[in-house]
Amino acid sequence: MSAAAHAEDVFDAFNRAQGMGSVADPYPRFAALRRETPVREAPMAEFTPYGAPGSTVWAALSFDAVATVLRDGAAFSSAGYARTMGIVMGHSILEMDEPEHHRHRALLREPFTLGAMRRWETTIVRPVIEAHVERFRRDGRTDLVRALTFPFPVEVIARMIGIPEPEHALFHRLAVELISIAFDPPRGLAASAALRELFARCLAEKRARPQDDLLSHLAQAELDATRLGDEEIFAFLRLLAPAGAETTYRTSSNLLCGLLTHPEQLALVKRDPAWLPRAIEEGLRWDPPLTSIQRTTTRELEIAGVRLPAGTPVQVVLGAANRDEARWEEPDRFDVTRPARAHAAFAFGPHTCLGKHLARLETRALLECLFERLPGLRLDPDAGEVSVTGLTFRAPLALPVVWDA
Ligand code: HEM
Repeated sequence: MSAAAHAEDVFDAFNRAQGMGSVADPYPRFAALRRETPVREAPMAEFTPYGAPGSTVWAALSFDAVATVLRDGAAFSSAGYARTMGIVMGHSILEMDEPEHHRHRALLREPFTLGAMRRWETTIVRPVIEAHVERFRRDGRTDLVRALTFPFPVEVIARMIGIPEPEHALFHRLAVELISIAFDPPRGLAASAALRELFARCLAEKRARPQDDLLSHLAQAELDATRLGDEEIFAFLRLLAPAGAETTYRTSSNLLCGLLTHPEQLALVKRDPAWLPRAIEEGLRWDPPLTSIQRTTTRELEIAGVRLPAGTPVQVVLGAANRDEARWEEPDRFDVTRPARAHAAFAFGPHTCLGKHLARLETRALLECLFERLPGLRLDPDAGEVSVTGLTFRAPLALPVVWDA
């Protein structure tokens, strides 16, 4: 089996373990819980498939409660990730609190600024998307998930990091295997070690011959005489696989699902690309790739009238915040024309998504390329129902489409 096909199989197993294909729509439950009270104890199984049977968790569900938790990094710690994702990623910024987090993030920021995006857009993002679309453009039909939205973001990350072309298939497979830690720990750990080896090989090469890529940047990044150690570089690069590739695959798939199942909105965005940025934000609001993240209280505190002791794990339900009826009218409706308001998909506060400019750029470039090269793009009328599914991680399993080739 080719590395690409293997990656698809492992990913399929991951998606199904996440409830994709079986959990159709967690939003009515999120809404019912949120309406009772914005912060509450609830069964873990409402938010993630991985809780111990019968276990409960405190959850922040309203937009205001979610924003309050995320903006206060001193009261709500991210260190709990060390016991979950940290096992395979290493000590990355995801699990750091201040001041360590700020110091590290400052060293990583430059390649993710809006200015840097202009460079990545022409050298990497557009060429990668166009090459993928060219492979099926004359076929007249495809599954956009398998042919495009699943493989392209990992290719973008591989090139940004500076992994040599012949190693891209290996990187893709390992990136997918890394996140199988939740249901197949030995596979996740083996992938973590193999990624370290791959990155170490590449880093040695970049130290000898620096280029215009992330690895060369990280090898040289320095702030107040602080440099990133090799293990810190590897942890950050491991984080980019799920943080950068998987989320973008889900985001672009969910937005495409929204547009393809609402042809009048698809037509509007195609006719007038000025709607594109609004459509991207609406896709992220309506069905974010990740419906919840975790924090732990560092001291006894009160939030939304609830007292929580120090050390309480809190499920921060971004998906519930994004459908809060106190903030959006008819929040379950996908509507690219709704007034723009900040949503919670990229989180807030110190850990706000570092790659949000890149994620938006990738999604915009993808839609522009599809509109330009696949005229008459629409859902395959012979395919069954298409919808976004999953509990914590959400995306459509397939996007069967046809166009006028
Ligand atoms: C549309 C797609 C994306 C969404 C919805 C998204 C969402 C998020 C969220 C919710 C967090 C906060 C996690 C937490 O604190 O628990 C986060 C953090 C992060 N994201 Fe993204 N992300 C996306 C794409 C990307 C991309 C493309 C990259 C980079 C290539 C990226 C890199 C990161 C990194 C490095 C962090 C950790 C930041 C920190 O801890 O300070 N993300 N993302």
